[in-house]
Amino acid sequence: MNDQLRPIHFTESLEYSNFIEETPADFKVATAAYRGAAVFQDEIERIFNRTWIFLCHESEIEKSGDYKSTMLGLQPVIVSRDQSGNICAVLNACTHRGATLCREERGNARALVCPYHNWSFRPSGELIGIPGSDRYSPDFDKSTKNLVRVPHVASYGGLVFGSFNPDVESLESFLGPAKLHIDRWANRRADGRIHLATAHKYAFNGNWKFQSENIYDGYHVGFVHRSAFNTIKKFSGSFENRHFGAVRPGGHTRGYPQGHGTLEAGVPLESGGVDPEVRKKYEATLATLHGEQEAKEILKNCQFLIFPNLAIFDFNIRVIQPIAHDRTEIYSYPVLIEGADDEINANRMLDAQTRVGSAGILSTDDIDIFAGNQSALRAVGSRWITLSRGLGLENVSESGARDGEYSDETPQRAFWRRWQKDMTNQGLHVGGCK
Ligand code: FES
Ligand code: FE
Repeated sequence: MNDQLRPIHFTESLEYSNFIEETPADFKVATAAYRGAAVFQDEIERIFNRTWIFLCHESEIEKSGDYKSTMLGLQPVIVSRDQSGNICAVLNACTHRGATLCREERGNARALVCPYHNWSFRPSGELIGIPGSDRYSPDFDKSTKNLVRVPHVASYGGLVFGSFNPDVESLESFLGPAKLHIDRWANRRADGRIHLATAHKYAFNGNWKFQSENIYDGYHVGFVHRSAFNTIKKFSGSFENRHFGAVRPGGHTRGYPQGHGTLEAGVPLESGGVDPEVRKKYEATLATLHGEQEAKEILKNCQFLIFPNLAIFDFNIRVIQPIAHDRTEIYSYPVLIEGADDEINANRMLDAQTRVGSAGILSTDDIDIFAGNQSALRAVGSRWITLSRGLGLENVSESGARDGEYSDETPQRAFWRRWQKDMTNQGLHVGGCK
């Protein structure tokens, strides 16, 4: 049996208030936070079933009847656009005898027909057809057999989120200052539209938080990816802003009280070898639409994580789907700009495939580290990890937003502060649907 898959036996207290220890110089997280099914189950109930979780991009369900099947926490859901153009989400479980209703990842349908006994539902959940319905009592109330709806669905900047929590705060309040980063990312569409291509999918035997924490980790880049960058350096015209030294100076990491965070190199996005004339035209369009200064900001290198599991890069969106405490799936969607020059989109697709796709030169490096992190969790005697880089050296605004240098662990600390807040907040209603 692979060591990584061998079950771990341990006895650890699940007092989440004791899982983080912070002093002015040290920020420690208990290794128990990554370990075992009990913590994972609490994360699903207290984080994934309570807050806003990304479901899809609006471009995936553009027309009436378009649907996508995906996950909200650990529950399968169907998100769709109804005849009036509204977006809604329902559980992907037939209310007759519980079959998986929709097995397609995406499609367009006036009705979803269950493969088991052919009950049919509108994508918005309404039961519209029962074969042989004369064998039901006249008192059988069909309207109570609609698919179960996710109580809240909302979108911002084209990103569609859902929440099982009937009392969840508004999406805008949850996103808080991260809205600015979404706006700038979305504004790179220039005068075209953003369109998500089919996802690359891969999985690793490790805890989901290893990937979330890594999205804005500017510290590991020069070490873990050194050989990848040295290979890339041999090809001209790409990665012109990449810093190849061990620790990149300057730049920013940001951490917000809502748990979101960024990694910002503070330099323009790489052009990836796009013809300079094509790039100039694209930049000029942005300047006309948003003004010179804002166009510069829009084009700065910035990747960010919307707590807990949505990573946004320039040319791809990465969804971190927890499966078990030691198993995680990744859905990596290339982001294309409809109406932009073909060369720009070809370059975005190439970047998404070669850097961060299933066999991406960067993602494979990271996954190897995550597998090692997971193996090390067997060392139950090692009780703490430390995320103290930049602590006490960052700028803290009145709103609680923190701004550190590129290699600081500022966004990771924001993630963990939010994690602990959610995990210790047992008074909230635990997610469910009507
Ligand atoms: Fe869906 Fe019977 S289980 S129609
Ligand atoms: Fe990496």
